[in-house]
Amino acid sequence: MEAVNGEEHDMERRLSKLLEESVVSRPQSEEITSKCCGGKGKDKGQGQPERSAGEVAVAKTKASCCSGATNGRKSDDELREDIKEYYGKIIQKKEDLQTSACCTEEKFPSYVKPLAGMVADEVASKFFGCDFCVPDVLENTSVLDLGSGSGFDCFIISQLVGETGQVVGVDMTDSQVELANKYTQWHADRFGFEKSNVTFHKGYIEKLDEIGLDDASFDVVVSNCVLNLSPDKEAVLKEAYRVLRTGGEMYFSDVYALRRVPEKLKDDPVLRGECISGALYWNDFITLARKVGFTDPRVVQSEPYIVNDSLKDKLDGTTFVSTTFRLFKVSNLEATIEDYGQAVKYKGKIFSAPSRLVFDRDNIFEAGAVVPVSRNTFRTLRASRFRSHFDFYGCCSKKHLGPFARSQPLTI
Ligand SMILES: C[S@@+](CC[C@H](N)C(=O)[O-])C[C@H]1O[C@@H](n2cnc3c(N)ncnc32)[C@H](O)[C@@H]1O
Repeated sequence: MEAVNGEEHDMERRLSKLLEESVVSRPQSEEITSKCCGGKGKDKGQGQPERSAGEVAVAKTKASCCSGATNGRKSDDELREDIKEYYGKIIQKKEDLQTSACCTEEKFPSYVKPLAGMVADEVASKFFGCDFCVPDVLENTSVLDLGSGSGFDCFIISQLVGETGQVVGVDMTDSQVELANKYTQWHADRFGFEKSNVTFHKGYIEKLDEIGLDDASFDVVVSNCVLNLSPDKEAVLKEAYRVLRTGGEMYFSDVYALRRVPEKLKDDPVLRGECISGALYWNDFITLARKVGFTDPRVVQSEPYIVNDSLKDKLDGTTFVSTTFRLFKVSNLEATIEDYGQAVKYKGKIFSAPSRLVFDRDNIFEAGAVVPVSRNTFRTLRASRFRSHFDFYGCCSKKHLGPFARSQPLTI
């Protein structure tokens, strides 16, 4: 017990050191550049025989701003290195995080709890997702997890796709990929599979082509609390779009800001690592998703993202939410939601949604009920893996009835 408390104190010390020294505590970006380049010798850790992980991270942050940074800002590579450091060395378990980044297992739907219980404790202890992001209807599908971490979501999905399905995880942090790989066969044995259906790759989610992931090779892309960490979110979304088959979807949870995050916060290794300062303002995310081809982003659910008091002071009142979106790769969708008098009936045959299917916040289908839907929803359901679970009415309707009344405006 004492050892555990000791570890906690050690972690607190490392984090508070990072917080004290993080760049946001300095007023101007110009000052950051000159201080970090001119002030190397004043680095607290210098000359010390050993440094804590927090000190290493800070020292690295300071050194890196002298190479390749422009206008006092870190380069994309430097931002990624900070994140590798954060998830590879600084954050060792969920409790080390200073936000509600971790989705607790109580939030999982009841059918998932036993599947989560099958996952190795060591893998579960390094689950750093911000929500539950496993969609319905995964049997026999191929699923890609962007930023798969220790593999927790992948090993749950492995059970849902079954032995004939396939799961691929991609992550850039060595220790996370090593841990996930260590348990691949262990889980296959536990699930009674002859051969594992999960593979993990070390790589960047902005460059899936570099690890050989082909165009149109996945039915579903998932991701849990990762996009915000990427310095090039457009590249990630483009890659997700490229590797999806037509009718496939990206179903993912992430953190969004309710207003644009001030530039001066963006390089802070702690705020970035905690999934805060890299977060997109939600409306900017929607614009970006549409730009790469995901024309009709859908909010599944959204809730406040809680930030500890120690970090709140730095945020200038910016607040955050954790939101699950689903983005379908369907080519004939419109940017606006239109009514063509069409309707659908959910048959109630999806095992995880026997009485009602929550497709998104605006489309909740009770089994057996005929429900009016927009043309986009109609086309999306028909083009996707949900098709066989619905009856469709008014397929050929060409009569436009005006805008379809969404029950909620597209906000999060
Ligand atoms: C908050 S953790 C979430 C991990 C996992 N999805 C989970 O739910 O436990 C973020 C993960 O994303 C990975 N990551 C962040 N940016 C990445 C990038 N550009 N390419 C690949 N992996 C990245 C990190 O290495 C880390 O393992």
